[in-house]
Amino acid sequence: MKILAFETSCDDTSVACFDGESLLSLRTASQTAEHAETVGVVPEVAARLHEANVFDTLDETIREAGLTLRDFDAIAVTAEPGLMPSLLVWLAVAKTLAHELGIPMLRINHIHAHILANYLGRGFDEIRYPLICLTVSGGHNELYRLDSPFEKTLLGRTRDDASGEAFDKVAKMLGLGYPGGPVISRLAAEYTGEFRGIFPESLRGEETFDFSFSGLKSAARREIEEREAADRLSDDDVREICYEFESRIVEELVSRTIRAVRMHGVGTILLAGWVSASNMLVSRMTQEAEKIGVVSLAPTKKMYSTDNAAMIGIAAALAYREYPDGPPADWIIGSGSDLGGR
Ligand code: KG4
Ligand code: ZN
Repeated sequence: MKILAFETSCDDTSVACFDGESLLSLRTASQTAEHAETVGVVPEVAARLHEANVFDTLDETIREAGLTLRDFDAIAVTAEPGLMPSLLVWLAVAKTLAHELGIPMLRINHIHAHILANYLGRGFDEIRYPLICLTVSGGHNELYRLDSPFEKTLLGRTRDDASGEAFDKVAKMLGLGYPGGPVISRLAAEYTGEFRGIFPESLRGEETFDFSFSGLKSAARREIEEREAADRLSDDDVREICYEFESRIVEELVSRTIRAVRMHGVGTILLAGWVSASNMLVSRMTQEAEKIGVVSLAPTKKMYSTDNAAMIGIAAALAYREYPDGPPADWIIGSGSDLGGR
C-alpha cells in the first residue's frame, strides 16, 4: 500500500511517500525566512509561496522514494484546521491527482496527525493505551484522553491563546523575530540565574484541565515595559524573562497533564505539536512522569514535531490498519474530539 501525503496548513509545503507504515521520503519547503519579515504568517503570501513550491517539492520527494505517481494507492492531505488559502492549494492538487489516478483521497485533521506523528520511528505496540496526550502548537493547546489511535476525548483546552502563540507574541515584544518558540527556548537555556517565579500561575484555585496564557502574556509585557522604562533591559534580562516565561508555561502544561494522568490512571503520556520540541517541556514532563511510574513520549525526531507531511501519511496508514478496505469516504480522519474517532 503506497501512500502519497501532503501538508500545507500554514507555512510549510511538505510531501511524504509511504509504503504501509514505513516512511520512504519526506521533503519540506519552509517559508520561515519569508515570514520573518512580517514577524508572522500572512495567509495570502503563504498560499502564493505554496503555489510556487508544490510541484518541485512533489517531484523531488517521489524521485527520492524511487517511485512514480502511478505507483500510489492513495493520497492523504490535510483538510483542517489551518489557514484556508494554504489548505486549498494542496487540497486542489490532491483532489486533481486522486481523480486522474483513480485512487482514494483521504482527508486528515492536522492536530490528530500531530498526535499520530508519535508513531514515526516507533513500532505500533510501543504506544500503549489508554493514554493522556498534550497537543501544543502555534494554534492549539489541548489535553486529550486517547483509548486507541482514533478514539479521543477532550479533557481541556486553552481559553485564549495557544502556548506557541504566547511564545510568538512575547518573542515579538522582545524583538526576537518569528517563530518565537525556538529562540525563547535557546535564550532560556543560556540563563544561569535562579528561578524566581516572577510570572503568576493561571486559573489558580480552579480544578480544571483548561489552560489560559493571555494573563501570562500581559504580565510579560508589563515586565518588559517596566525594565525598558528603567533602562535596564540588558541581554541578561532578556534571557531571564525567556527563562521565567518558558518555565511558567512548562509548569502549566506539566501540572495539568500529570493531574489528568493520575485521575485517569493511565501509564503513558504523549506530547504532540511543535512546542513539544521544547527541551524544557520534554525533560520536565519526563521527570514528573518518572516520579509516578509513567512513560512520557514525544516525537522521535524534532522534524516530526513541526508541521510535516510524514504525520499526514502515518495518520492515513494507521487509518488503513483500522479499515483495511479503506476508511469511510466522508471521514476527516481524526476530526472531532468526543466522538470516539468518528
Ligand atoms: O505545530 P505548529 O507548527 O503550529 C500549528 O500547527 O499551529 O507550532 C508552531 C509553534 C510556534 O508558535 C512556535 O513558536 C512554537 O511552535 N515552537 C516552540 C518551540 N519550537 C517551536 N515553542 C516552544 N519551544 C520550542 N522549542
Ligand atoms: Zn501544526
